[in-house]
Amino acid sequence: MLSMTSHNLEFGRSGLDFVACGCSSNASYLVRNSSKGVLRRVKYEFGARKWLCFRRDFGSCRVVSTKTPEAFVNENPVLMSAAEQIFSAGGKRMRPALVFLVSRATAEFVGLKELTKEHRRLAEIIEMIHTASLIHDDVLDESDMRRGQETVHQLYGTRVAVLAGDFMFAQSSWYLANLENLEVIKLISQVIKDFASGEIKQASSLFDCDVELDEYLIKSYYKTASLIAASTKGAAIFSGVDSDVCEHMYQYGKNLGLSFQVVDDILDFTQSAEQLGKPAGSDLSKGNLTAPVIFALEKVPRLRDIIESEFCETGSLDEAIELVKSCGGIERAQNLAKEKADLAIKSLQCLPQSAFRLALEGMVKYNLERID
Ligand code: IPE
Ligand code: IPE
Ligand code: MG
Ligand code: MG
Repeated sequence: MLSMTSHNLEFGRSGLDFVACGCSSNASYLVRNSSKGVLRRVKYEFGARKWLCFRRDFGSCRVVSTKTPEAFVNENPVLMSAAEQIFSAGGKRMRPALVFLVSRATAEFVGLKELTKEHRRLAEIIEMIHTASLIHDDVLDESDMRRGQETVHQLYGTRVAVLAGDFMFAQSSWYLANLENLEVIKLISQVIKDFASGEIKQASSLFDCDVELDEYLIKSYYKTASLIAASTKGAAIFSGVDSDVCEHMYQYGKNLGLSFQVVDDILDFTQSAEQLGKPAGSDLSKGNLTAPVIFALEKVPRLRDIIESEFCETGSLDEAIELVKSCGGIERAQNLAKEKADLAIKSLQCLPQSAFRLALEGMVKYNLERID
């Protein structure tokens, strides 16, 4: 079915190595290397913006276990083609990497020698759900670029994009059900509901200068952190560790997810479309008031007038962006991202020291380095 042809992928213009995350059954890379080496490698890979190789057997993580979805795909070549389009565009594959790292870190905890097929399938399902959410998000945000390429709705039209996203949500739910773990099924089903809540929350507060930081964080939880938290907790559940460890892994994913969204919102102000592989500077122009703006509104009353006029005057959007940058909005958002990152790292304390735990810390630090 949906094949994540991921032999060489970019990590949002830099790369992520799945072998280093332990996705393979003989994922020896981390085991062979010292903890320090692992962290160095995580940093090097992310920082140096290198192309990286994925294991070929993961690269072919095809989901071909039953007839029903296959038959559906054959009957729906347009949806298949739309799905292939966005998968083959790459993406960082951060969520499956987290699934593998938590799987490894927690498997070690209970003396589990190898990852299970459930761990691997969970990683595939999570990336499928994430990608479906991006297709829908791009429709709502009217974005024309994703992962450095034209978006699905731009290429195939809105109707196909909506259906392709639905199709991928449905497919992932079907594979999820086949894992036959009620706790994980409930956990991930909630995430799909949360996406809708997050998008509705965002759409209903566009250009609303009274939006508070707490509301922004709740929306960010729904849109982003919920899936990452479910990924990391789900991986721990499949390792069979105690429920308190599963809960810590949930908190790790949640706070990393919040930090990740704050960083993404800062990058929207500070990076170019070329660097991001998606439109830059678009949140504010569409009325999506993110952390840097919420902080800036506290300092610069004039910003409210400009935003509430929905940038009707020529040059007012540029003026607003400059005000956000010059009044310390970005710096305060950076501090917020760091605060959440610290909480994520704290949650890892329940794990035994290992190369995988260090790599999980490395993921949090890497995310912050994107805004240094
Ligand atoms: C984009 O997620 C959506 C956000 C949560 C900000 P990613 O930045 O992980 O997107 P890809 O998968 O690498 O393209
Ligand atoms: C996250 O929010 C999107 C989803 C989790 C679906 P954004 O709207 O900030 O994501 P980008 O910037 O379009 O990738
Ligand atoms: Mg978006
Ligand atoms: Mg964004």
